[in-house]
Amino acid sequence: MDSFGRHHNYLRISLTEKCNLRCQYCMPEEGVQLTPKSELLTAQEIITLARLFVKEGVEKIRLTGGEPLIRPDVVDIVGQLYKLEGLKTIAVTTNGINLARLLPRLKEAGLNAINISLDTLVPAKFEFIVRRKGFHKVMEGIHKATELGYHPVKVNCVVMRGFNEDEVLDFVDFTKDLPLDVRFIEYMPFDGNKWNFKKMVSYKEMLDTIKQRWPELERLPCESSSTAKSYKVPHFQGQISFITSMSEHFCGSCNRLRITADGNLKVCLFGNSEVSLRDHLRSGASEEELIQIIGAAVGRKKKQHAGMFNISRMKNRPMVLIGYCVFQK
Ligand code: GTP
Ligand code: 5AD
Ligand code: SF4
Repeated sequence: MDSFGRHHNYLRISLTEKCNLRCQYCMPEEGVQLTPKSELLTAQEIITLARLFVKEGVEKIRLTGGEPLIRPDVVDIVGQLYKLEGLKTIAVTTNGINLARLLPRLKEAGLNAINISLDTLVPAKFEFIVRRKGFHKVMEGIHKATELGYHPVKVNCVVMRGFNEDEVLDFVDFTKDLPLDVRFIEYMPFDGNKWNFKKMVSYKEMLDTIKQRWPELERLPCESSSTAKSYKVPHFQGQISFITSMSEHFCGSCNRLRITADGNLKVCLFGNSEVSLRDHLRSGASEEELIQIIGAAVGRKKKQHAGMFNISRMKNRPMVLIGYCVFQK
């Protein structure tokens, strides 16, 4: 619990800083300076920390990166998390490239929820934005996830003017016959991603476009801590949502904490205060000491970081190092 009464029951753990794509809005073409392997958390350290957070009330853990599915021991990590009593959801946010291949084993190990990034339905535009090939693998991953019973499969689409704002209605159609939740995300600035205000397409603008085509669009109820505002075209199998970090932030109901791949606790996606749990762990801190250190960091969490004014002025790590895929180091 922080000093504003927010209860943190959702932990995002970044498994790696590496990625097999190079999305333009996430990292520079040449990649980013990677932390040496010896400074990254081992699987055992991840499980030790996860156990502690679950003991203190965390009910949902999301594995992120970089790209979490390139970590060789990811299936084993999911399997070990599954054994933690009190943990209700194990989720992953992935670019989808390795998903179809790994999903049967991840499901068997206990993975319950999947979010997949996909910003365009046009293969050539995909290659432009991610600077790599792989469109068909991602589509295969999305279909495999629906076939294996992940309902809904969340599809994250960062909307950027001049790139894909003309595909919003196609993405709505994508939810017609598949149990997807397509989430339109307002483009956010991170170090080196060349964000500018004009490239951002707001929630309101997207909603207006969709309502012109689908006036019968229905608003759906959602959990108070959700990052997304959800809607549905009646009779479509899936739904759509908006993640409005820029135009309508959701800091007031934030329930998230993050651990970066190098073991720093980050209490806010946008804040830059971090504490190294890895160093305390490696210097032999006891469970009680670690809980006290985590509690103190959560206690210092600010009321609000997000919102247009705050975010666009802030220095932060590039997204790939926050563990978003993104959004959490
Ligand atoms: P669910 O657990 O399924 O609700 O997923 P999520 O939305 O928390 O996670 P995901 O990894 O799919 O991230 C989707 C988008 O949510 C990211 O692109 C961010 O824009 C946004 N997001 C995730 N966590 C935060 C956060 O703590 N603060 C803000 N402002 N945005 C966040
Ligand atoms: N703005 C908005 N969303 C972003 N993501 C990565 N970088 C940005 C950005 N600059 C998205 C990814 C992923 C989600 C977790 O974050 O597309 O799906
Ligand atoms: Fe793209 Fe995610 Fe990889 Fe960043 S971490 S380059 S957003 S796939």
